[in-house]
Amino acid sequence: MFNRLCNSKRVFICLVAAATQVLYSDIYPLITNVLSRDTHSLNGKWNYIIDPYETGFYDYRYQESGSGYFRNQKPRDKSDLVEYDFDKSPLINVPGDWNSQRSELLFYEGTIWYKKSFDDPRKDPSSRLFVYFGAANYEAIVYLNGKKLGKHIGGFTPFCFEITDGLRPTQNDIVVKVDNKRYREAIPTVNTDWWNYGGLTRDVCLIETPQTFIRDYSIQLKKDSRDTIAGWIQLDGIEKEMDVTLEIEELGIKRIVTPNSSGKAEFEFAGSPVLWSPASPKLYDVTLTAGDSTVRDQIGFRTIQVRGQNILLNGQSVFLRGICIHEESPLGAGRACTPEDAEVLLGWAQELGCNFVRLAHYPHNEYMLRTADRMGILVWSELPVYWTILWDNQATLDNALNQLEEMITRDKNRASVILWSVANETPVSEPRLTFLRALIDRARQMDATRLITAAMEKTSRGNTVLIEDPLGKYLDVLGCNEYIGWYEGTPELCDKKTWQTSYEKPLIMSEFGGGALQGYHADDKTRFSEEYLERLYIHQVAMLKKIPFLRGTTPWLLKDFRSPRRPLPDIQDYYNRKGLFSETGQRKKAFYIMQDFYQQKAKEANP
Ligand code: GCU
Repeated sequence: MFNRLCNSKRVFICLVAAATQVLYSDIYPLITNVLSRDTHSLNGKWNYIIDPYETGFYDYRYQESGSGYFRNQKPRDKSDLVEYDFDKSPLINVPGDWNSQRSELLFYEGTIWYKKSFDDPRKDPSSRLFVYFGAANYEAIVYLNGKKLGKHIGGFTPFCFEITDGLRPTQNDIVVKVDNKRYREAIPTVNTDWWNYGGLTRDVCLIETPQTFIRDYSIQLKKDSRDTIAGWIQLDGIEKEMDVTLEIEELGIKRIVTPNSSGKAEFEFAGSPVLWSPASPKLYDVTLTAGDSTVRDQIGFRTIQVRGQNILLNGQSVFLRGICIHEESPLGAGRACTPEDAEVLLGWAQELGCNFVRLAHYPHNEYMLRTADRMGILVWSELPVYWTILWDNQATLDNALNQLEEMITRDKNRASVILWSVANETPVSEPRLTFLRALIDRARQMDATRLITAAMEKTSRGNTVLIEDPLGKYLDVLGCNEYIGWYEGTPELCDKKTWQTSYEKPLIMSEFGGGALQGYHADDKTRFSEEYLERLYIHQVAMLKKIPFLRGTTPWLLKDFRSPRRPLPDIQDYYNRKGLFSETGQRKKAFYIMQDFYQQKAKEANP
């Protein structure tokens, strides 16, 4: 019925986008490139209160209370009854998930309240001030001095609120209710194979801006062009039509553009940059100025296209030598969230011989993308539309669309990002296809330059594996996960498999592999031994080499990671053991099988 009513895709997209806006209207439009802004960090120790019954939010009739913990109240006199006190409550690090910081919170799923106090940091009292969160998993309600600023849903994308009007000169209280409870209508839904790390998991800061400032911009090579730079700049504030200067000094480019009445200036001009690539990750200093607002970025320029079953980077066919990565710190426990984490994880990928990473199964922190830009590593970025999503639920679609928009808004200027993935291993059905097509349409509308992919379902007929998932019709690049030799048969079964595709499109084998406890040695028939995993990779690589339309591989995965689905004592202990590295950074024997394959592929590409 809904589809018949929306007889044109454009109408459908507008309706869905409108619905999304209504649901997320209290979130301020994202201020991008926060690392280049005039910021005051709120990272560090925050007081926290564990609140499994949401006593700080609901009254005893389960109605939203007007005097919850967000008021940060103190007894007015000795008779007053206040049954919480942030200042006497313990401290926890931000950024950081709570699960890995307190043993009693390892499995905790529920609400934790955070409180941080700060004085008005503005150098210029006429400036505007925003509070910015790199991410909060899963649902965050933010209050300033007892007043609700709004709610953000989604655990892996940034959001901000303007706080200019609510500020006091001193002792401003930011209180955040973070709830990581899983629920069926969410994105992701209740069942995932990763740890549900809750909390303020990424940087939190205050952003000071002039009254009118450059809030967002897109600066890339025009689609399919190598000598035309195109994009737009969005002003925010009262002087929406003030001139903006765009400068790329190294290219001798300096342009002045004038925004329209909504503050948006579109531009297109000749420019022939040295193209960004893994071999030569050239980044240009870009400076945008508008009145008192200056934003600097480092942007790479490249083209990415598909032609038949080939992926073309800067017009050249490329084989993506990749690895899947979960956002877990290689240096300790819990969520990765620092530049150092990114350097180590991507350094391990480069040691494996990678020119590509699949950041599973959700948008990673911005340091990963900026480090990939600098190191010359191509990126598959993904939405946590994972497994059995509630496809028929409008609020679920709105949530997915909002997370997609936040992912693309934040990373649309990162040369390393070549693929937006809209799903992972989602069961084939009409509602699922309709849902994913809405995401694909929105992604293409926001960003015509990048390719769209997903880890699709495969089918088998005997030992023939078929890539025929109807979703493939709407993707540019096909992804497929397979665990032949681990979940399906023995490693030798790989030798019997042939692969067929219904599409004249490139395929990335987006997951394969198996588990092994690093340091556990036995014969190669013993499950979870390093030798079994090595044998599996040997047969997997032999099979992958025979697939003519294969243009990339991302084995599952770089490092062992925590999962509630993996309790096997003495082997898993709540870790998924499919890493080529252990959780302490020890390489397994299978690492070297994959490294050897990538050395061969690199030689083929550069004989
Ligand atoms: C699936 C899924 C991964 C999961 C992996 C596994 O393919 O996409 O998220 O961790 O298999 O079973 O280890």
